[in-house]
Amino acid sequence: MKNLIDRAKNTHELTQEEIVSILKEDSINEYLFSVADDVRKKYIGDEVYLRALIEFSNICRCNCEYCGIRRDNSNAKRYRLSKEEIFSRVDYAVKLGYKTIVLQSGEDAYFSAEILAEIVKEIKKNDVAVTLSIGERSYDEYKILKEAGADRFLLRIETTNQKIYEKMHPAMTLENRKRCLFDLKNLGYETGTGSLVGLPEQSFEDLADDILFYKELDADMIGVGPLIVHEETPLKGIQNGDFTLALKVMAITRLLLPNINIPATTAMEALVENGRLKALQSGANVVMPNVGSEDVKKNYEIYPGKVSVGYEKLENDLKKIGRTISLKRGFRADNKSVKGE
Ligand code: 5AD
Repeated sequence: MKNLIDRAKNTHELTQEEIVSILKEDSINEYLFSVADDVRKKYIGDEVYLRALIEFSNICRCNCEYCGIRRDNSNAKRYRLSKEEIFSRVDYAVKLGYKTIVLQSGEDAYFSAEILAEIVKEIKKNDVAVTLSIGERSYDEYKILKEAGADRFLLRIETTNQKIYEKMHPAMTLENRKRCLFDLKNLGYETGTGSLVGLPEQSFEDLADDILFYKELDADMIGVGPLIVHEETPLKGIQNGDFTLALKVMAITRLLLPNINIPATTAMEALVENGRLKALQSGANVVMPNVGSEDVKKNYEIYPGKVSVGYEKLENDLKKIGRTISLKRGFRADNKSVKGE
């Protein structure tokens, strides 16, 4: 098994069966994490890229079975930030030195491509990259937003198992999800995707297929996190996803896509103390601190126990593990292993 990991470190290839065998075998976990850490160091270096996350609306037309801000959760307190409120959080983040602004929301129809384009243009007056995470849209809408200056887009595939996908996402299709991702890639966005680990009936084979899908898409960013059960969703009462398994999926992703950006996801920190640091030592190189107001953070409850981290604490924690905060915008490192600009 160690040979398999060593080979993947050099070739960046594994078959589905090989990935499954690594996922199933827990005696090699620490070895896998340390090799993923080596690959991260070789291709990205010791700088950690920060992304300032602004959750600007929790109004959502989707009804994802696991998500706390799903349409049918009438207990969720809904909000939508005004442009001015968004810009004031952007100013705050820019003053702190953030070089990427991530605008995330539920699928809120109020924010047409035109309205969002104006917001993106305004934010781009700062020297920052802009990432959108606003769900499924048409090719034309993605194009308007790209032309407005958006650099990146996050849209997790969540799972590549069609049966599970369609069960978890009423009225949505895996096919359209993939269409969105390939549209984004074709439009020149740095495209991020990723999975939830611990969905009902999800198998090791499914997780291996997810990783192979990231490779097929040539994703530029991958976020993997354990499912955290929200009590006001249809999944209430089931078990949370497994932290270690999520970490393994992330580490194998680093072996196969050595130069991409991989966040230590908030769900990892929410489930396990110091989960963020463990992830950063197992292949991750990005952290996405939430720069919203306390009120907004509280109400954007996609899962319970979301933890936010301040800039100073993060800087201290990173120092302890020999890492520094990058002052660059942090695009994907190129294939000749030149560090991302
Ligand atoms: N637990 C963990 N992650 C979740 N997400 C949504 N709901 C949950 C949950 N209950 C993730 C999804 C989505 C991202 C923004 O948050 O993967 O893509």
